[in-house]
Amino acid sequence: MIPLTLAEVAAAVGGRLAAADPQARVTGPVEFDSRKITPGGLFVAFPGEKVDGHDYAAGTVEAGAVAVLGTREVPGVPMVLVDDARDAMGRLARAVVDRLPDLTVIGLTGSSGKTTTKDLVAQLTARLGATVAPPGSFNNELGHPYTALKAGPDTRYLVMEKGARGIGHVRYLCELVPPRISVVLNVGTSHIGEFGSRENIALAKGELVEALPADGLAVLNADDPLVDAMASRTNARVVRYGEAPDADVRAEDVVLDDRGRASYTLVTPEGRAPVRLGVTGRHQVSNTLAAAAVARELGMPLAELAQALGELGLVSTRRMDVFDRPDGVTVIDDSYNANPASMSAALRALASIGRGRRTVAVLGYMAELGPYERDGHAEVGRLAAELGIDRLLVVGEPAAPIHEGATAVGNWGGESVVLTDQAAAVEVLRGELRPGDVVLVKGSRYRTWDVVDALREDAGSVGPTGGGAA
Ligand SMILES: Nc1ncnc2c1ncn2[C@@H]1O[C@H](COP(=O)(O)OP(=O)(O)OP(=O)(O)O)[C@@H](O)[C@H]1O
Ligand SMILES: [Mg+2]
Repeated sequence: MIPLTLAEVAAAVGGRLAAADPQARVTGPVEFDSRKITPGGLFVAFPGEKVDGHDYAAGTVEAGAVAVLGTREVPGVPMVLVDDARDAMGRLARAVVDRLPDLTVIGLTGSSGKTTTKDLVAQLTARLGATVAPPGSFNNELGHPYTALKAGPDTRYLVMEKGARGIGHVRYLCELVPPRISVVLNVGTSHIGEFGSRENIALAKGELVEALPADGLAVLNADDPLVDAMASRTNARVVRYGEAPDADVRAEDVVLDDRGRASYTLVTPEGRAPVRLGVTGRHQVSNTLAAAAVARELGMPLAELAQALGELGLVSTRRMDVFDRPDGVTVIDDSYNANPASMSAALRALASIGRGRRTVAVLGYMAELGPYERDGHAEVGRLAAELGIDRLLVVGEPAAPIHEGATAVGNWGGESVVLTDQAAAVEVLRGELRPGDVVLVKGSRYRTWDVVDALREDAGSVGPTGGGAA
């Protein structure tokens, strides 16, 4: 946050001061959790259904808050009064970002891999200058301004994930924090229930490049036709990445090692350099190319870039986090979330890590597929069988079409079962796992990760590996 007087805060959010000194200065941070307030901070009071932030207003002032941004007066508390606190936080973020001319905002969207790639980009930009990026998936109307408000005069890069839940949503997030570099990763079927079709998803995600200024940069996945086509929707320069032979930033000669980690030759207009990734999964080729295109734009030389790509690690947990138990069982924890595209990426990683070993997939329900729910699940099951996964544990009745999809593959030699819940899956695993097995655990939250936690505890094993240096 840059220091702002309360008068400036009020002007930025279109609010009015009550019981407040207009010249008092907020030096940050801006918090909506009263426990996080430190001296010089600004507390944002949201009127909640269960808890009303205004009840904590006086306490935050005692803790050092300069004022409280809220929707009604609290006696004795210096207030910036507005009609809508969330909207005001967005406006304040915009005011702060507008006052930071040296800040480059990088926005990412896509159906799969936003958080993963956000973390990759942030690790690269951190080598170039002070970087602010939100933890995890903090990508909505609240997470956005909250993260942007962490930027100060020394911040050079702000890396933001922009999730789209409908048309106009990304556009709105871009109004709050306008990007100068926009990265679109892919258009899949996540949230297709809300959007109706992949074309509509593309429409929504493309808003990220429409928001760019003429001197901005659109980084587009040349391997995804719906993303590649977004080049026509921006005034900014375009850099295309991927494995397409005509991509500007591309990977050639991709090979996977026995841990599912890719090596490739990075090819850019500047030349070629070998890359050996530490993060797991074939899909990381695409994600790291996107990150490379950003770092290249920001001036990282090719040799340094290739080296840095190899040193990238996982930051946000439960995304392709591979660990070995002392008993020789390898676990792939991809339990954070699931949609058909990321299921496919994870199953392929399982097949590749599990070459010559017994492979087990514990797969849960994928949410938000709407009318594609049945087919989406069945497709995942079919793929598991086609990849020759040996054992399939389908968790929860709603995910049963995965089982049906797999067992419909005639020549599949594996076995599948539908289990009622995570506990049942843990029971089966306890009975069946043998040294050398590789287990993938994946689902759309719904506590699929309980299975991973049980697998960790069972062997008294190591903590999260983070897939390399974090
Ligand atoms: N390029 C990719 N293609 C397919 N799957 C991917 C890709 N990148 C990451 N994944 C997988 O997708 C899942 C979700 O990853 P991540 O959390 O990074 O995505 P996200 O787009 O941020 O999701 P959300 O919409 O929940 O915020 C993980 O299982 C991850 O391994
Ligand atoms: Mg995310």
